[in-house]
Amino acid sequence: MAMLITGGAGFIGSNFVHYMLQHHPEHPIVNFDALTYAGNLESLRDIEDHPSYRFVKGDITNPDDVERAMQLGVDIILNFAAESHVDRSIMDPGVFAKTNVLGTQVLLDAARRHGVKKYLQVSTDEVYGTLSPSDPAFTEQTPLAPNSPYSASKAGADLMVRAYHETFGLPVNITRCSNNYGPYHFPEKLFPLMILNALEDKPLPVYGDGLQVRDWLHVSDHCRGIYLVAEKGVPGEVYNIGGNNERANIDVVKTILQILGKPESLIQHVKDRPGHDRRYAIDATKIRRELGWEPKYTFDTGILETVTWYLANEKWWSAVRSGSYMEYYEAQYKDRVKA
Ligand SMILES: NC(=O)c1ccc[n+]([C@@H]2O[C@H](COP(=O)([O-])OP(=O)(O)OC[C@H]3O[C@@H](n4cnc5c(N)ncnc54)[C@H](O)[C@@H]3O)[C@@H](O)[C@H]2O)c1
Repeated sequence: MAMLITGGAGFIGSNFVHYMLQHHPEHPIVNFDALTYAGNLESLRDIEDHPSYRFVKGDITNPDDVERAMQLGVDIILNFAAESHVDRSIMDPGVFAKTNVLGTQVLLDAARRHGVKKYLQVSTDEVYGTLSPSDPAFTEQTPLAPNSPYSASKAGADLMVRAYHETFGLPVNITRCSNNYGPYHFPEKLFPLMILNALEDKPLPVYGDGLQVRDWLHVSDHCRGIYLVAEKGVPGEVYNIGGNNERANIDVVKTILQILGKPESLIQHVKDRPGHDRRYAIDATKIRRELGWEPKYTFDTGILETVTWYLANEKWWSAVRSGSYMEYYEAQYKDRVKA
């Protein structure tokens, strides 16, 4: 099964590429990525010469770029490519509508044209909106009620995927996962930001009271779930993925400080994000029951391993923070990225 992995240079996409080459190297992979600020080939440097792996630079909103990649022979499309940061969507919603909704539609058209065996859309629990503390967790039947331009654009993409199944019979799946953490996470997101600031004794900015609850899942558990859905998911179905690890942001930050032996006085409460969702929680009964998925990490084992990874990989995160990885790859891949 030849796979087109869009957004494979991002956080979850690059972890998925590693996961596939380690556990299922029989599937040839094309990583198709525009290399926006969030795309980093440094995260894939160790596998860039693997015989089952190939990188193609391209934009999912550009049908010619997508067609060029499809010509390499694709059985399954897995769409990880997205604008993914809620704060950025509040500053500039337009690029979110373009990449996340239009880009998805361009990929769906290519999937139809080439008669792929499966189109898998990597979505998010944020499309369901927010929960109060006493609400039951999101199921696949929870109505979509996105609150940020990011989650609205992801919901729009999900509806487009659904429509291509209903209208054209395209064999699709949608996965909706809770918040991920783990290696290769861009340093603007909560986990790496807090770990790296704490390491440097800088203030740890926590939005509002820090009592926003997220349901944390280690990225490798997410990747295993995506692969299972791609392989065995019933066409047209949505699968929630989550690890039952609800934690308030402030408790995540305190745990990181504890692991690093740093004082809680580094925590600095800052003005909350507008429209900030209070709580997300995923009911993953369906993927557990129907596909036999189980997370391997508990929150405690996952957070310890993640902090340890950042301690051991300063070269990776210092290059990301300085932006030097972009210049390096501009020069390095100028002639290698074309299909
Ligand atoms: N991070 C999470 O906690 C989380 C949780 C659930 C679902 N998701 C979803 O998983 C997917 C991946 O998330 P992530 O955290 O890895 O995001 P990311 O921002 O780290 O990576 C996105 C990748 O997409 C690429 N990209 C952006 N625009 C593109 C375009 N027009 N054409 C081609 N490539 C483009 C970027 O270069 C980058 O490599 C997203 O769809 C996101 O909505 C993320």
